Amino acid sequence: MQSPDTATVACTVILATGGTIAGTAAAATDSLGYTAAQLSVEQVLAAVPALGGLPIEAEQVAQIDSKDMDFEVWRRLAHRVAHHLARPEVGGVVVTHGTDTLEETAYLLQRVLAPAKPVVLTGAMRPATALLADGPQNLLDAVMLARVPGAAGVCAVLAGAVYGAFDVRKQHTYRLDAFGGGDAGPIGHLENGGLRRLRDWPQGVPVGIAVLDAPWPRVEIVGSHAGASGAVVDALLLTQGVDGLIAAGTGNGTLHHALEAALLRAQAAGVAVRRCTRVAEGAVLPSGKAALPISGAPTPLQARIDLMLELMART
Ligand code: SIN
Repeated sequence: MQSPDTATVACTVILATGGTIAGTAAAATDSLGYTAAQLSVEQVLAAVPALGGLPIEAEQVAQIDSKDMDFEVWRRLAHRVAHHLARPEVGGVVVTHGTDTLEETAYLLQRVLAPAKPVVLTGAMRPATALLADGPQNLLDAVMLARVPGAAGVCAVLAGAVYGAFDVRKQHTYRLDAFGGGDAGPIGHLENGGLRRLRDWPQGVPVGIAVLDAPWPRVEIVGSHAGASGAVVDALLLTQGVDGLIAAGTGNGTLHHALEAALLRAQAAGVAVRRCTRVAEGAVLPSGKAALPISGAPTPLQARIDLMLELMART
């Protein structure tokens, strides 16, 4: 455990993409019937007077509900993050994002950039108009984290907890503390503006931003469950021209026999197939007898990103 660190003088760049943190509702008591991505980054920042004296730049990269995240926004965001990180006067980047796909964007940015400076994603579970909006505190915490000396890698900060890009996941539909870090837990906690760090920053070898210029492959996730069949896999092959398939298996990545047979047919037809698990925690371990390869990433969403990057790197 480390003692709290706080500010440096470097500039923090805030890249806004929309989400509930920029959402509005007709009534302050309405935390569900709101519209995401309504306020500009300047309006979102204005709700955090404590950021007033700090060297901050803000840029609106997108304005979407993150359920609608797409490859074009991902590509643009990754390029803007890389651009600002390369500026010597920039100490770190904060990305405001909807919570629904935040974990996917965090994972993608870490895999592609593995930045030596901090990239901190944050969002909110309640819209900016709510009686007790969580966005302003989360944004303040994210900027404080991005200014911590020595911070590195892609992290997310929500409800005072800091999660690494490989671990962060949304695990509750409406609570303010909706996020968790799986088996690994949080990297640390923001306590009154200071970081109490528990473990290392995310690390890794970056795939490199150039990979995002390749055409995005079509990789779909299929689930194994009681009564599963191979029909979805067969239909995808027949009608969609799929490039890759992630099988979200049961337990240690096991698959219903009918689904497994269809996936083996897909693999034989040239489709890249990887197995992971639908179970919330724990990675799939080699069992010796399974026919289809295991994904290195623990969650189906992460496995999908890994496979897309792998296929893009081949082109
Ligand atoms: C979104 O993901 O953009 C909407 C939901 C949220 O931010 O909590």
